[in-house]
Amino acid sequence: MSFSAQLAADAAAIGDYLDRVLQAKGDVPVTAAMRYASAGGKRLRGFLVLESARMLGVDQAAAMPAAAAIEALHAYSLVHDDLPAMDNDDLRRGLPTVHIKWDEATAILAGDALQTLAFELVCAPEIGPAEVRIDLVRSLAIAAGAEGMVLGQALDIAAETAAAPLTLDEITALQAGKTGALIEWSAMAGARMAGQDLAPLRAYAAALGLAFQIADDILDVTGDEATAGKRLQKDAGAGKATFVSLLGLDGARARARDLVSRAEAALAPYGARANLLIDAARFTISREN
Ligand code: IPE
Ligand code: IPE
Ligand code: MG
Ligand code: MG
Ligand code: MG
Repeated sequence: MSFSAQLAADAAAIGDYLDRVLQAKGDVPVTAAMRYASAGGKRLRGFLVLESARMLGVDQAAAMPAAAAIEALHAYSLVHDDLPAMDNDDLRRGLPTVHIKWDEATAILAGDALQTLAFELVCAPEIGPAEVRIDLVRSLAIAAGAEGMVLGQALDIAAETAAAPLTLDEITALQAGKTGALIEWSAMAGARMAGQDLAPLRAYAAALGLAFQIADDILDVTGDEATAGKRLQKDAGAGKATFVSLLGLDGARARARDLVSRAEAALAPYGARANLLIDAARFTISREN
């Protein structure tokens, strides 16, 4: 199957799975907002879970709760990222953000509950032995928290008001947390479930995660809002530190291409079995949304 066909199939399956789980949680505003916020998106993180699992021979039904978990956690991060106190955005995935459609309290609570849903899902018995599930829970907590995504978001907000522009090293560290940590968890999940060496997928995902955020920063400058489904041209106005602000567009593009080559090289141990993960890395920097 081609990468785009596999991504589409996985996105549909993850969406169905999340729908089923959330339908069972009742119908009050906060659950309606959770369904709304977790619908759509490229599902790249969920794809990375499913594809790393397929590559290493993990049963698809075992990997699905982990794929849904990271998409729930990512959706939470977006709901909170869009809040007035953070990026103050009114458009996400082509629709009004949760605090616009409902209100801020509902958006905060729906984000909170999407995060706890992620931890509920990585405990699902079909994933396998308790040791594997605890490993997924612990690594997800670390990736999402004060050493990972939350740290990156905090550094990103702090950079808006910093006295001096961030250095390349500081931007790299910021983005490794903000975007890299969840992408790394996603690509490494297959190896965790298969009980195999984490190192090649860690190296792949570290490069991929950075390339992904560089592409996001480039899209913020050059992208089309209707295609992206979110407000663009916001980073410069907000004084955001990005690879584009530091290296310029061409420099950022060159850096992203170099990172994709590094991501590909990291998968050499898997030979042709890694082809779809390699295509995913290439997609990451050529995407338009
Ligand atoms: C957007 O992530 C936020 C970043 C971390 C850059 P995605 O571009 O993966 O968003 P969706 O899930 O496809 O909407
Ligand atoms: C968001 O980064 C990262 C997380 C939600 C963790 P951005 O603020 O750059 O994402 P967009 O551009 O709003 O999607
Ligand atoms: Mg942000
Ligand atoms: Mg944002
Ligand atoms: Mg952005």
